[in-house]
Amino acid sequence: MSGKKRVAVLISGNGTNLQALIDACAAPDFPAEIVRVISNRPESYGLVRADKAGLNTLVIDHRGFLDRASFDAALQEALIECNAELVCLAGFMRLLTPEFTAQWEGRMINIHPSLLPAFKGLDTHKRAIESGVRFAGCTIHFVSADMDAGPIIMQAAVPVLAGDTPQSLAERVLEQEHRMFPQALTWLAQGDLSIANGCVEIKTAHKIPVAIIAPEPV
Ligand code: GRF
Repeated sequence: MSGKKRVAVLISGNGTNLQALIDACAAPDFPAEIVRVISNRPESYGLVRADKAGLNTLVIDHRGFLDRASFDAALQEALIECNAELVCLAGFMRLLTPEFTAQWEGRMINIHPSLLPAFKGLDTHKRAIESGVRFAGCTIHFVSADMDAGPIIMQAAVPVLAGDTPQSLAERVLEQEHRMFPQALTWLAQGDLSIANGCVEIKTAHKIPVAIIAPEPV
């Protein structure tokens, strides 16, 4: 027994957040290990990253299921099969049923590319630019029954700059996502997080890294 928490990572796409977790897990003292990477899309580049890292991978193509409940049941079976203790949603683009999320309450975290509760859902960077906000960012939160709404663990803010496109803003936000995810997983795996009245408390011994990057003065 390694003493590390067994983590399953769920992905749908490129998998750069998965890569950040793979890289972090390479450190001997990282408190978690990735025991399975599951994608709902066979073409996810994240699967290639997982293969390269020698990780166990599984495709559960959502298109093969009649409804969300049966897809989630297959997911649950796959998580139990690999003895996952924790789940990271790293760019996993499927809504999950409340029955499924209830089974992982306090043990499943998601990364979302906005400063929640603003801009839940899709196209966050486009909507942030169009709404004229000066700061965008990302959030890691516990997964609850409602989409992008669970207790917030960490956030990072980045400026929205003149001339930003959804792509350029996404790149700036992704840099912060990659910094935050390993830290949030470390806390979760070490048992440093608790939830009180819908808010996350982090063991006071830890300094919470808050990344706020000020925009250039105009
Ligand atoms: C990230 O911005 C993540 O927050 C969002 O989708 C993107 C996935 O990126 N949910 P990647 O697959 O981790 O590269």
